[in-house]
Amino acid sequence: MNIAKAHLICFSPTRTSRSVGEAILRGTGAQDIAVTDLTHGEVAFPEMNGNELAVVAVPVYGGHIPRLAVSRMAALRANGTPAVAVAVYGNRAYEKALQELDALLSEKGFRVTAAATFIGEHSYSTESLPIAAGRPDKSDLEEAASFGSRIRTKLDAAAGASDLRPVDVRRIGKPRQRLIPLLRFVMKVIRLRKSGTPMPASPTADAGLCTRCGHCVAVCPNGAIIKGDECNTLTDRCIRCCACVKGCPRQAHRFDTPFAALLADCFKERKDNKVII
Ligand SMILES: Cc1cc2nc3c(=O)[nH]c(=O)nc-3n(C[C@H](O)[C@H](O)[C@H](O)COP(=O)(O)O)c2cc1C
Repeated sequence: MNIAKAHLICFSPTRTSRSVGEAILRGTGAQDIAVTDLTHGEVAFPEMNGNELAVVAVPVYGGHIPRLAVSRMAALRANGTPAVAVAVYGNRAYEKALQELDALLSEKGFRVTAAATFIGEHSYSTESLPIAAGRPDKSDLEEAASFGSRIRTKLDAAAGASDLRPVDVRRIGKPRQRLIPLLRFVMKVIRLRKSGTPMPASPTADAGLCTRCGHCVAVCPNGAIIKGDECNTLTDRCIRCCACVKGCPRQAHRFDTPFAALLADCFKERKDNKVII
């Protein structure tokens, strides 16, 4: 089948999901690509038909797809459009996220023709506590592009969208996870919870470093930082995505969650991306 147009639909506060989605689309060879980025607010969705392709990429938060991404996709509708469901996670686990994305897209009228789980640098990763730092790296993006090229082959072989077999995302390969570090993580989380250590509700900003440049205001996906008051984060709006931390040109924002050390310690081993087509 001939693909008239390709869409990238993403929610991606620290841009790893978006870059994986872009690499997949590059691999399909699609020329006409429309990007609908839901990160910074509600957007109008383009109409999507059976002769188009949508790559939908979102991060994993606590083993699920972020609630904010789900609510921003409320008005999304398709008409048998082939879709690629992509969950990007920070080298720990994606748990229910891919199945949730598959169910959501199917309910909205997409035909989930391919799916993938990719690794992205963890939102809590810092220089001193790296967690999948730098991912997706060159080789991840090459894998994403080669996945895109295989999607193209599947589409080319079909007479039309109704010919395309939806994938069963539960059958996607599982990344290798050694038992000892996983158990160590579980034990550490139990100990941390029992200790009653307070969990920070949001990143904090150092007023001495902050120049009130407003970059954090622009990158925050949920209006949790107000222009002119950059050193204050509205905790009831903060989704702890760390876009302000990673985007601050002066490193004025930081998120001191005790989970960062646990994740950096227990999920050092590089996990593989997995695809199903
Ligand atoms: C609140 C929150 C929860 C997260 N939960 C998980 C998780 O359950 N498993 C995991 O491996 N990574 C988790 N991550 C890491 C993100 O999935 C990962 O950094 C992803 O690449 C971020 O995507 P983005 O760059 O598109 O925003 C979490 C990140 C945040 C901010």
